[in-house]
Amino acid sequence: MSNQTTALVTGANKGIGYEIAAGLGALGWSVGVGARDDVRREASVEKLRAAGVDAFGVPLDVTDDASVTAAAELLGDRGGLDVLVNNAGITGESPQEPTVVDPAVIRTVVETNVIGVVRVTNAMLPLLRRSPAPRIVNMSSTVGSLTLQSANTDATGPISAAYAPSKSFLNAVTIQYAKELGDTNILINLGCPGFVATDLNGFRGYRTPEQGARIAIHLATLPDDGPTGGYFDDNGPIAW
Ligand SMILES: NC(=O)c1ccc[n+]([C@@H]2O[C@H](COP(=O)([O-])OP(=O)(O)OC[C@H]3O[C@@H](n4cnc5c(N)ncnc54)[C@H](OP(=O)(O)O)[C@@H]3O)[C@@H](O)[C@H]2O)c1
Repeated sequence: MSNQTTALVTGANKGIGYEIAAGLGALGWSVGVGARDDVRREASVEKLRAAGVDAFGVPLDVTDDASVTAAAELLGDRGGLDVLVNNAGITGESPQEPTVVDPAVIRTVVETNVIGVVRVTNAMLPLLRRSPAPRIVNMSSTVGSLTLQSANTDATGPISAAYAPSKSFLNAVTIQYAKELGDTNILINLGCPGFVATDLNGFRGYRTPEQGARIAIHLATLPDDGPTGGYFDDNGPIAW
């Protein structure tokens, strides 16, 4: 492996993922733009390169085994991977109130937001294990906080049997990874970007994608003695 740090950001063709790629690229890192659509991916790679980022395209649908396997091969052929940012996510169709939700919607959201993260992480782990300072960042949300949900604060978003629980599930799975990887040098953490204006919420958020990317960039660049198995936003730890 070369001395240059290489990162992969899933769902990097727009929104927060694009800005995470731009931010990591600004550090001088080589950044893989993971995206499922060829046109959107190449447009983002071009835009990042125009901004001076050493960006390259990684065809990637997190719900597709063959696509994820091919992405790991591509990164292996390029020399490896140091940092994985599992950013790709969907909210799923409405309605999501538990009394009326279509179970297929829950399945689809979990397939992307949870199983997609497991699929990508496990495919990339052999590469990450060879890195001197591997980091994994899983993009969660405060809507996944059971503490905040049960306190019924306004940080919890609309009533949801799919999106919000998918982030609680992701949080729970990430803790299990941190426990299993506890005796390795891999740090794995959850980040919440805040309420960000993107396609995901019809651009209703009040933060910019650049602001939303900050926590992921912070967790991607943790020092070797940094935390693992944590759940953070820009203000520090979030209550589980
Ligand atoms: N925006 C917020 O306020 C907010 C708050 C808390 C947490 N988050 C989390 O932050 C992350 C990024 O969200 P965002 O707001 O930037 O949303 P976004 O603008 O909708 O971007 C989502 C990205 O994920 C990609 N994606 C979706 N399904 C995929 C799949 N199967 N394979 C590969 N890529 C896939 C999308 O690709 P396509 O363009 O191909 O659809 C897109 O690049 C998500 O995990 C979200 O849950 C966002």
